[in-house]
Amino acid sequence: MKSITASQLSKVFPNGKRALNAINLSIDEGEIFGFLGPNGSGKTTAVKLLNGMLQLTEGSCSVFGIDPASAPEKVHALAGVVTEHAQMYNNLTGFQNLLFFGEVFGINIDETKRRALEILERLSLLDAKDQKLLEYSTGMRQRLSLARAMLHQPKVLFLDEPTSGLDPESAQSVNNLIKSLAHDKGTTVFLCTHQLRYAEEICTKYGLINEGNMLATGSFDELHALVSSKLMVTINADKYEVDSQEEIPALVKQIVDSGGKVYNVVARKYSLEEIYFALNF
Ligand SMILES: Nc1ncnc2c1ncn2[C@@H]1O[C@H](COP(=O)(O)OP(=O)(O)OP(=O)(O)O)[C@@H](O)[C@H]1O
Ligand SMILES: [Mg+2]
Repeated sequence: MKSITASQLSKVFPNGKRALNAINLSIDEGEIFGFLGPNGSGKTTAVKLLNGMLQLTEGSCSVFGIDPASAPEKVHALAGVVTEHAQMYNNLTGFQNLLFFGEVFGINIDETKRRALEILERLSLLDAKDQKLLEYSTGMRQRLSLARAMLHQPKVLFLDEPTSGLDPESAQSVNNLIKSLAHDKGTTVFLCTHQLRYAEEICTKYGLINEGNMLATGSFDELHALVSSKLMVTINADKYEVDSQEEIPALVKQIVDSGGKVYNVVARKYSLEEIYFALNF
């Protein structure tokens, strides 16, 4: 069964704004799907539709076969959501917040404690577990929000800009956690971000969105093929394009034969960022 689907999914807000325009999604279990687009492109709107927090205008969507609009509680039972403004309690400690949400999810107290401590450790929050949330920094809060979303071991995790406020070290530990959830537990991750370099590090599939329209979906190689079949070769500081790496030795020979010196050769594909801009403009 597909983990997440959307068919011709559209959302028009009461003020007439068409935030999503007939988008299609088909995401397999265990995939880390990067939903990439600039500010205002419709990413958060899609997350809200998929979690039953907003009603769709046209089309349909599902999470493990469940329609989020008609059975939001069933989606919440198997999904975890991290948004920019997670609702947690400022006057409770980090640990107490997790215990509270464990109870909301109906997990027994000992199991909640065990899971909470394990997740806090993995997110480097163990030392801060007895501090009140109001004393947490933005990055600590963001990581606690992820901890909360993981507590009931969801089959799908929706992460809306999970590393936007994190320093490189914390971002790395969040990345590692996301990757291991997908690889080891088969958790599907729906990751919204406009940080393309970050996405390229962890995502297995992509959807590129702009102004509510899906520009392209697919794996890195599929997206790359849409833009170019070429390899970019930099020799010393000069740029060349070739069809395959087999052409590189001849290119180097040609330069050497004509009296040039070669100190440095780098061949690479387009980056996700370059693909994105090539598709977008
Ligand atoms: N409740 C609302 N009423 C009217 N328009 C809205 C509402 N919520 C969002 N929008 C508009 O819908 C569009 C998409 O917004 P959305 O929050 O989904 O974008 P986003 O891709 O998550 O952006 P960001 O990267 O800034 O988080 C924007 O133009 C936004 O102004
Ligand atoms: Mg958003």
